[in-house]
Amino acid sequence: MRHSHNASNMKLHYFSLFLVLIIFKLSTTFGLPTIDSLIPPEALLSVNHYHTTCRNVEGIISQTVAAWVKKDPTLAPAIIRLHFHDCAIRGCDASILLNHPGSERSAFNSKTLRGFQLIDEIKAQLEKRCPKIVSCADILTVAARDATILAGGPFWEVPLGRKDGKISLESEANLVPHGHENITTLLEFFKVRGLDILDLVTLSGSHTIGRSTCYSFMDRLYNFNGTKKPDPLLSFSFLKLLRKRCKGVMDLVFLDVITPRTFDITYYTNLKRKAGLLSTDQSLFSDSRTAPFVEALATQPFLFTSQFAVSMVKLGNVQVLTRPNEGQIRVNGVTLHLPL
Ligand code: HEM
Ligand SMILES: *[C@@H]1O[C@H](CO)[C@@H](O)[C@H](O)[C@H]1NC(C)=O
Ligand SMILES: *[C@@H]1O[C@H](CO)[C@@H](O)[C@H](O)[C@H]1NC(C)=O
Repeated sequence: MRHSHNASNMKLHYFSLFLVLIIFKLSTTFGLPTIDSLIPPEALLSVNHYHTTCRNVEGIISQTVAAWVKKDPTLAPAIIRLHFHDCAIRGCDASILLNHPGSERSAFNSKTLRGFQLIDEIKAQLEKRCPKIVSCADILTVAARDATILAGGPFWEVPLGRKDGKISLESEANLVPHGHENITTLLEFFKVRGLDILDLVTLSGSHTIGRSTCYSFMDRLYNFNGTKKPDPLLSFSFLKLLRKRCKGVMDLVFLDVITPRTFDITYYTNLKRKAGLLSTDQSLFSDSRTAPFVEALATQPFLFTSQFAVSMVKLGNVQVLTRPNEGQIRVNGVTLHLPL
């Protein structure tokens, strides 16, 4: 009795093995989805990715970021923004770093991006210690986390294992939001990248540090939307201040007028006082879909920092290249090495 039971079990076992092999054969022959391709790309990232291949990757990145930010504190917001512009186009693949005619970096939208030399310096150091191991995409992602901490923001673990992309197009870089979009457009832009409404409002909170050129909001000061009047969502005192600060379009103004160098919730309380700098910032409070999130973040500092960490991990995971046949490990920050 027991014997025959085992025998039928064995038959079943062989049969299921047979089935698996058939499915595998079919899938490789006809290009059906394999088990591997059902795993989302970001699930192949891991905090241990370089543990056996390159010691102290994160230590070297954080030391170099700290040294450069100490010399020039404006690099902290610059690196965070650079990471956003990278992830926003073709995912976090360091495509923003590629420096050739027609690349993302040469786009109009990329004109005021900074911090490229810092990433190049980190890359050069890591190339010396462990050649062709650490991707530029991972370096930029970790550097953005370290820049956040240096600005007084939260810590989070960065899953690693991104590869560098080979494609970088100027035309695509100009799709990154530049401050004149409506909330519908912003929500859609974020949604197709797997980021939701809370991510939009929380990540916009990085405008609690850093600066903008007057170019990005000049239309709000004199002739908003063709009305020959300033933007009604701008408070009168803030309007007066901005008109004084903006003599030319390349003049720089803090994104958070009250505490420009502190990573805090003042960005959100500013919005409630009609003192958001960009039209897109202020719209987060005037649009009924995003306003409740602004209200929540404006009153709960811990909610902001904890959700910021969560949303930054999501941003860093956007459309990552993690499979063996995807992307490359670039040998320097800027040069594209395509196989012949
Ligand atoms: C929601 C859509 C967003 C829009 C429309 C937007 C727009 C802008 C604009 C226009 C500037 C000033 C550029 C200039 O004139 O020089 C800026 C700066 C900045 N953005 Fe955003 N941004 C958005 C989202 C984000 C996100 C998601 C992050 C980071 C996670 C980010 C981080 C920054 C930082 C840190 C700066 C200051 C850069 C510096 O001081 O060098 N932004 N952003
Ligand atoms: C938002 O902007 C897009 C693109 O400019 C436009 O097509 C759309 O009508 C606008 N939506 C609203 C609600 O204003
Ligand atoms: C800008 O003007 C257009 C048409 O004149 C109008 O539909 C739109 O709502 C205005 N946008 C804002 C933010 O006032």
